[in-house]
Amino acid sequence: MDIQKIKASFQSHFGKDAYPYIFFSPGRINLIGEHTDYNLGYVCPAAIDKGIYVAISPNGTDTVNLFAMDQKDEPAVYSFDIRSGQLPALRWAKYIYGATMETVGNGVNVKGYDALITGDLPDGAGLSSSAALVCAFLFALDSLFGTGNTDRFTLARMGQAVEHKYLGLKCGIMDQFASLHGKKDNLILLDCRSLEYDYIPINTKGFRLVMLNTCVKHALGTEYNERRQSCENGVAALKKVYPAIESLRDATVEQIDSVKDSLSETDYRRSKYVIQEDNRVLETRSALNEGNMQQLGDILYAGHDGESKWFEISCAESDFLVQIAKECGVTGARQMGGGFGGCVINLVKEELYDNFIKTAQKLFADRFGHQILVYPISVGQGTCRLA
Ligand code: GLA
Repeated sequence: MDIQKIKASFQSHFGKDAYPYIFFSPGRINLIGEHTDYNLGYVCPAAIDKGIYVAISPNGTDTVNLFAMDQKDEPAVYSFDIRSGQLPALRWAKYIYGATMETVGNGVNVKGYDALITGDLPDGAGLSSSAALVCAFLFALDSLFGTGNTDRFTLARMGQAVEHKYLGLKCGIMDQFASLHGKKDNLILLDCRSLEYDYIPINTKGFRLVMLNTCVKHALGTEYNERRQSCENGVAALKKVYPAIESLRDATVEQIDSVKDSLSETDYRRSKYVIQEDNRVLETRSALNEGNMQQLGDILYAGHDGESKWFEISCAESDFLVQIAKECGVTGARQMGGGFGGCVINLVKEELYDNFIKTAQKLFADRFGHQILVYPISVGQGTCRLA
């Protein structure tokens, strides 16, 4: 993205004198560990080099004026008074209102500001555009009106609170954490209970990581919260027999099997998926450390199988792409993110790459009547001020 162009757009929208600061917060991929974060387990995300850019300047009033320049689904302009306590009706503005209110709640004396939002991250693709948006604002407001020293753990928690309180999505901490803590060319192995994390350099020599966007958009909501409820039901059943269990992170496959009869079939299946997925993240760590790409690939396929059949968060388009990947000899593939569409992540041998992409593009278009989008993965830095 061209910073000068962003500044020029800001100035032409808000007036020539305005001179904005520019902040960036990235989207994320997740190699493995889906729906494990709110079960206090493990995830393996990384920030990507695409994200949300915010040009922002205090305006000396109590009013926040927003211009979301790429917005197509809803009106692109919105204003609110910081003291009004009125949740915006526009979905995109709710995130910014929430970030503003959480910053106020963190003891920062936030004043009115003008902000332009743009970016190069597709929304609804499972790449966490909403976490990128929220984290960009949390970081910017803390820098502009606070000390700029709020630690990134706290900002990630605040970002999660924005989803919970203002959007009604009971998400975990992965997306906000990854956006804020990204490091170039590194995956993050995060323990979502202790928030201890390690950076693992991505070393996939001879292989490529590529995302194929099904272009099936799905704003997470009821279905996501239902999955979380199933997990909580699983924990409640386990706790009766194993009182030390506080979350699915603490349980083994044998333990969930032993309480199968006290759960609905759906809650049992979903809870078991989470326990297995947690194990897959830990196996991924060993596979990465040993450079065992075959094992990593097998884990990705097993993860998709679990998402599709056990946790029920896949869709026909994602299943189809994973099947094509298998048929083309791709080492591993799975649907990535919260679910119900978005991107499939693929681990492909260099020599198979071109043929795989061509075949996937053709077969997918024949079957579903629209194109997939291809994004090679480039892992970048976390939230920062650019100018
Ligand atoms: C969404 C949520 C995350 C996480 C993923 C699934 O992206 O925001 O907290 O639960 O889904 O792994």
